[in-house]
Amino acid sequence: MYKIQAPESEQDYADYYELRWRILRAPWGQARGSEKDEFEDLSHHVCVKTDSGEVIGVGRLHTVQPGIAQIRYMAIDEDFRQTGIGRKIYQYLEDVARKSDINKIIIDARINAVGFYEQMGFIITGDGHTLFDVIQHKKMEKKIILIE
Ligand SMILES: CC(C)(COP(=O)(O)OP(=O)(O)OC[C@H]1O[C@@H](n2cnc3c(N)ncnc32)[C@H](O)[C@@H]1OP(=O)(O)O)[C@@H](O)C(=O)NCCC(=O)NCCS
Repeated sequence: MYKIQAPESEQDYADYYELRWRILRAPWGQARGSEKDEFEDLSHHVCVKTDSGEVIGVGRLHTVQPGIAQIRYMAIDEDFRQTGIGRKIYQYLEDVARKSDINKIIIDARINAVGFYEQMGFIITGDGHTLFDVIQHKKMEKKIILIE
C-alpha cells in the first residue's frame, strides 16, 4: 500500500528533495541544492510513500499567473515506474489546481516524459529549452474544465 500526501515533517521534506535531486539532477552531475527553485515556499508539494515510509514519488504545482499553474519536478523512483504512481501524483496536483480556480496547467516536459503527459491529457504547444545541454523539452498544456 502507498500513501499520497503533502510532505509534512522535516524528514518528509528532506526525503522529498532527495528523490527530486537523485532522479532529476544527479545523473547530469548537478550539485545538491540545484533541485530547488525560488517558488518552493509558494508551491503545493506532493509525495508518495511506501508502508515503510520511503518516498518513491514526488511532484509540485505552483501558480504562474492568475488561472495558470505549472507542474514541475515530477519524479518516480526507477523501481516503481509504470505502476500508476505518476498518474496518482498528477491527479492529486490537478485536484489542487481545480480547487484553486486554475483553468490551465502548463508543463515544460522532458522529451522522455512527453508520452506520460499525453496520457494525462496534455497536448504539445511548442518546443522548449534544452537542459544541461542534452535534455530536450516540449511545452505542453492542458485546459482544466471547472465543473460547478
Ligand atoms: C514520467 C514519469 C513521472 C511517469 O511516472 P510513472 O509512475 O512511471 O507513470 P504511470 O505508471 O502512472 O503511467 C501512467 C500512464 O502513462 C504511461 N507512461 C508512463 N511513462 C511514460 C513514458 N515515459 N512515455 C509514454 N507513456 C508513459 C503509462 O504506460 C501509463 O499508461 P496507461 O495508463 O495507459 O497504462 C516517470 O517515468 C519518471 O519519473 N521519469 C523520470 C523523471 C522525469 O523525466 N520526470 C518528468 C520531468 S518533466
